[in-house]
Amino acid sequence: MARIETKHPLAIRWMHWINFPLLAMMIWSGMLVYWANPVYSVWIGSCELFHFFPVWFNDALGIPYRLAEGLQLHFFFMWLFAANGLAYVIYLIVSGEWRALLLIPSSFKRAARVALHDAHIVKDKPPQGKYNDAQRIAYSSVIAMGMLSILSGLAIYKPTQLAWLTAVFGGYEWARWVHFWLTILFVLFFVVHVIQVAIAGWRNFRSMIMGREIVEAETE
Ligand code: HEM
Repeated sequence: MARIETKHPLAIRWMHWINFPLLAMMIWSGMLVYWANPVYSVWIGSCELFHFFPVWFNDALGIPYRLAEGLQLHFFFMWLFAANGLAYVIYLIVSGEWRALLLIPSSFKRAARVALHDAHIVKDKPPQGKYNDAQRIAYSSVIAMGMLSILSGLAIYKPTQLAWLTAVFGGYEWARWVHFWLTILFVLFFVVHVIQVAIAGWRNFRSMIMGREIVEAETE
């Protein structure tokens, strides 16, 4: 017998879905800005494997010569991204939802078992609450990434007024480095997250919209 269970509070659903276009806008406008000074590559020894971003990639997306537009969009949407993120963190704390979401010391051990179970190598699923331990690690990380993006962004936005913050990152160049690589990590998180959501299925996806989930009763 299936039953309906309450899963995601309304505030979490709103902030989650608002975050998606805001983060997309931050990444897009960041790419318009990065084009003006594209310094990062992946290297193995002295061999450059991949340069961010190849000319064909920029051209295909219409990125070149839009620095001013990129800066304006970035500096506008950053406040909305930060406000939504701050509201989310405050809500997590006040509602107690953080208990179900944040990683705990034993998460790393159990996350390995979650991965083995997902890969169909072991049969038993480790016990979990609202989220499994791989999700706890992923979601805690993405929240920390959001905070670091805002802080490193502020460090390169106002390196004179916020000189102390820029110094915490080891100077302007390192703050910029952190800011750029966090963006790449956001994109990787997004790809894995969407694949996991697709694997978890329609009922799970719908619960992030409706707040409730249809759950099958456990059968022995
Ligand atoms: C890059 C943008 C995104 C970020 C940073 C993000 C982050 C998160 C976080 C932190 C949670 C946990 C929320 C909580 O309970 O407090 C979550 C859950 C969820 N997200 Fe996303 N998300 C993003 C985009 C998406 C997209 C595009 C989809 C749809 C394909 C999606 C579908 C879901 C679903 C269904 C859950 C609930 C998972 C479950 O109940 O097991 N997310 N996401």
